[in-house]
Amino acid sequence: MKRYIVQTFGCQMNVHDSRRIEEVLHGDGYVATDDATLADLIVVNTCSVREKAEHKLMSLLGTLRPLKDQRRGVVLAVAGCVAQQEGERLLTKAPFVDLVLGPDNIPELPSLLREAEGGAPPRARTVFDMDEPQFLHAKPREGLREVTSFVTVMKGCDERCTYCIVPYTRGSERYRSGDTIVEEIARLVEGGVREITLLGQTVNSWYEDGVAPTSRRVASRSQFADLLRRVATEVPDLARLRYTSPHPRHLTDDLIAAHAELSVLPAHVHLPVQSGSNEQLRRMARRYTREEYIERAHVLMRARPGLTLSTDIIVGFPGETEADFEDTLDLVRQVGFVAAFGFKYSPRPYTPALNLPDDVPEEVKSERLTRLFELVAEQQTAHLAALVGTRQHVLVEGPSRGDTGRFSGRTDRHEIAHFDAPAGHDPTGHVVEIEVTEAYKHSLLGRAVGEVPRGPLATSVKRGRLALPVLA
Ligand code: 5AD
Ligand code: SF4
Repeated sequence: MKRYIVQTFGCQMNVHDSRRIEEVLHGDGYVATDDATLADLIVVNTCSVREKAEHKLMSLLGTLRPLKDQRRGVVLAVAGCVAQQEGERLLTKAPFVDLVLGPDNIPELPSLLREAEGGAPPRARTVFDMDEPQFLHAKPREGLREVTSFVTVMKGCDERCTYCIVPYTRGSERYRSGDTIVEEIARLVEGGVREITLLGQTVNSWYEDGVAPTSRRVASRSQFADLLRRVATEVPDLARLRYTSPHPRHLTDDLIAAHAELSVLPAHVHLPVQSGSNEQLRRMARRYTREEYIERAHVLMRARPGLTLSTDIIVGFPGETEADFEDTLDLVRQVGFVAAFGFKYSPRPYTPALNLPDDVPEEVKSERLTRLFELVAEQQTAHLAALVGTRQHVLVEGPSRGDTGRFSGRTDRHEIAHFDAPAGHDPTGHVVEIEVTEAYKHSLLGRAVGEVPRGPLATSVKRGRLALPVLA
């Protein structure tokens, strides 16, 4: 019996790809192990969105190398964005790597493994499936009824934000048909899944291939909104439908209307802004102004009362002045984000921004990041504190860490919430109403209102560290 281990870096798209890698391997007779020293196959699924992630990969490969010397026949594969970006070059930089596998080449893994096991030389397969895009299906996991699952609706990105390597590592946009998306969701929900997150690099630019998009600029109509309505109608047992990450310029009136209409959509959206300075947004080629972003955000929050927003922000992009950064802080205040991922700008190969000097000193980048995080933390704390005394619906994901009879899950707005269940009860997979009794820095504590269900609807699955949202 052959054993494998997959180590994942980066965004949720990579987490999803890792799951597909696992499925392909299970189909090929491999079984999972948590112990890299026992693995016959080690897959590192990589991220190249910032240089730091790439450094981490190189040092991990260094630590994995001895495993190959200790046991004959161990196959070391590098998948994901660094694989796509570097291709053959990676085999020169790390000659002990056996296989370099692009995100679109996951289905070829078994045949490539046969070649490697047969003694073939190291190989790089990094070809985009432009003509016939393949979307690996998310399947219910055998013996498991997971609470939450991802479903890809599109891949690649046509935006070309000047700092971003993703259009290079993931190719141009390709869309999956509405029918297959709805079918996959229906199958997952039949298998016990309660919450689906639709994935795509610019998830809300999705459109039905073959049907001309009404407009690729901000328009009032959006086929993505139609897709959400379809899922809500055709899979009525779905408890929650999330999506990540939308691009602000595809946040159409129609999509906002869907948030007002569809109770299956949670009251939270992750809407990357990147900067609050018009000059910086222009240089980043984000194709909206700060005024447009703020207006859209406010219309969305009015359409669905209580809706919160989180975001991604890059600090220290070339040419960012103190005044530009203060514009960003000002936008963070005006929109009232309750969470944010912040990143220091990192020059990436093949991106247009490489033509701009990386001129914000490292200390200034660090200082701006700290100020950004302080402001967001203040807003998050105030937001959570204001929820004390309110009632919230928690989709229970499993026992809280430490197993003290306490369970945890996510509220409608994606806040982490804990509550106590009577001994012997396991409400995993149910939506439980709680009254919030206490607010911590990043989570809530509450008391269940009414009966806590006795038996689970789903199985709690411990996940590794939290992944970043997919870009946009
Ligand atoms: N440098 C820093 N941050 C980046 N991101 C994307 N490219 C870069 C880069 N070159 C950030 C964006 C994106 C998030 C996932 O990563 O904020 O939304
Ligand atoms: Fe595309 Fe998002 Fe990268 Fe912009 S930041 S190029 S929208 S993946």
